Amino acid sequence: MVTDHVGQDPQDEVAARFYSKIDRSRAVQQTGEGLWLVLGHPEAVQLLRDRTVSSMTRTPGLGVWDQVSSRFFMFKDAQQHMRLRRMVGDCFTPARLAELKAVIQRATRDRLDRLDEAAATGDRQSDIMAKVAYPVASDAICRLLGVSPVEGAFLGRWAVSLSRLTTDDEFDRSAEEILAFFREQLSAHRETSLCSGLLPIMAERALALGIDDDELLATCILLVVAGFETSANFFGNMLLSLLWRRERFERLLADEALVAPAIEELLRLHSPAHVVKRRTTAATVVGDTVIPADAEVAVLLGLCNRDPRVFDDPDAYRLDRASNPHLAFSQGPHYCVGASLARVELEAMLRAVLDRLPRLALAVEQPLRWSGRFLGRGLDQLEVLAS
Ligand code: HEM
Repeated sequence: MVTDHVGQDPQDEVAARFYSKIDRSRAVQQTGEGLWLVLGHPEAVQLLRDRTVSSMTRTPGLGVWDQVSSRFFMFKDAQQHMRLRRMVGDCFTPARLAELKAVIQRATRDRLDRLDEAAATGDRQSDIMAKVAYPVASDAICRLLGVSPVEGAFLGRWAVSLSRLTTDDEFDRSAEEILAFFREQLSAHRETSLCSGLLPIMAERALALGIDDDELLATCILLVVAGFETSANFFGNMLLSLLWRRERFERLLADEALVAPAIEELLRLHSPAHVVKRRTTAATVVGDTVIPADAEVAVLLGLCNRDPRVFDDPDAYRLDRASNPHLAFSQGPHYCVGASLARVELEAMLRAVLDRLPRLALAVEQPLRWSGRFLGRGLDQLEVLAS
């Protein structure tokens, strides 16, 4: 139970608890269970850029979710990876990002204004994850794909359930629903050509690249799952850090030029995606270690982001850190395809918060529940006081 906000940021506590179990003196090491860990920044960059290292780390199953996720380009290598990634790779043009930024800023402001209005009638406390983070992040993905926001509300619900469910049956039910939804969207587009956004562009490219409908639909779902949950989670992680130590929030209020570098610094320290998995296909030299062929490797991005060889005073929060080559979006061929959108989205959301709710504070007493989801760590709930 959190009772005051003078102690260590709870995210630093979580990180310290996890990382204290790891011997940081060796940047590449093997655990007693045989898993290889990479926790040094240059070593991670070397491994992640090595094209002989595979991202095919999932064991194929027979359920609907297994079938769908087996087509995610995130878990594919070389030609198969590039062929599918090409459908979306260069879609984040400056014009599209500017359009999305305006939509996201408006959506965030509207939702924050509702919190403010509720506060004016005496209802000060709200869960900012449910009221702002999830709906805005889901709106952003819907706009990106060209799906209407009304339908987007359902999409957001599915994405949340896909990222939180634990039983195979629940996963499969949600996967079936989201698959049926995109199948309908695709056939509606083919009948009317009225859909705007990425879906028609992806459909056209799929035709040219010989990509079938199952692969196209799986890629839509990958964008929803990878893009929605990570952004919503990070928005919560970022606000918790800024409001836990109010002087951080105040610094941004006083100097909005710090918003962009502050987001990078918080991505470095508290990205929801702490780890990515790989498999070696041949003996692989990483730093001064040789990882044997067919080894499972976990790259601990969160620890690489605190490597003192790369980041001066790595555990400190420097909201104006000048050089920040963090690995929150990974590196190499699987570098986050939505990184530019995520940056635009998070900046639009944070600027809207600073603009609309400069007196925002954390509710003093609240249990902080972290959920480990499909792509990382985020808060189920974050109670704030609107004014
Ligand atoms: C704060 C927000 C985000 C974070 C921290 C994040 C993090 C990551 C990371 C670490 C990877 C690399 C996985 C690997 O190396 O195996 C990744 C890949 C990916 N991300 Fe993001 N992401 C974010 C937002 C987004 C958004 C908004 C979208 C989509 C609109 C997106 C779509 C993807 C996709 C499709 C991949 C797979 C890329 C590939 O395998 O080629 N992400 N992301």
